Amino acid sequence: MGQRRLSLVDRLIGEADTVLRTLSNRGNQAARPSPAAGHSETELNEGQRKHVAGLMRVNHTGEVCAQALYQGQALTARLPTVREEMDHAAEEEVDHLVWCEERLRQLDSRPSLFNPAWYGLSFAIGAVAGAVGDKVSLGFVAATEERVCNHLKDHLKQLPEDDRKSRLILQQMLEDEERHGENALEAGGTDFPRPVKDAMTAVSGLMTKSSYWV
Ligand SMILES: [Fe+2]
Ligand SMILES: [Fe+2]
Repeated sequence: MGQRRLSLVDRLIGEADTVLRTLSNRGNQAARPSPAAGHSETELNEGQRKHVAGLMRVNHTGEVCAQALYQGQALTARLPTVREEMDHAAEEEVDHLVWCEERLRQLDSRPSLFNPAWYGLSFAIGAVAGAVGDKVSLGFVAATEERVCNHLKDHLKQLPEDDRKSRLILQQMLEDEERHGENALEAGGTDFPRPVKDAMTAVSGLMTKSSYWV
């Protein structure tokens, strides 16, 4: 087998490994400890527990999408000048994924069953955006992060006041996502027009509604 063929096989195994790690629980390791670590659990009634689990499941699916988006992009984008920055952002998304997963377990719940479908769709979108060009690719990251930040702010308002664990996780995620979005624009990402952002909001609305329940 030629060198080229081998490296392609290696790459495909690496890509498949990322997919499996993201879609299987406990497959990833966070680089940073969860912001919730060391904080005591609050007493939630059944209704509150279910609501918080629904919100955390939505955030978890968002992080699954982030993994897929970065993976799809990495496959097709050139991004020569911002590769390191993007890789760093992708690493932080793994932290978010693991923190949400862990919080879901603590709430006696589980990730969404629709995650494989959202993974596939986000991967395809990332690959297309990456193939179109770096400005679009980075613009897509910026517009996505803007949507994610809106969700996070909304969820922070909805969390029960004394659910400190969930709150600390979402606060750190919000800080990270805002930075990812700003960096993508500073690196030359296109600021997408309002109709495109509205279409993205509509699709993410489908994701949040389905992941909250299933
Ligand atoms: Fe994230
Ligand atoms: Fe992000």
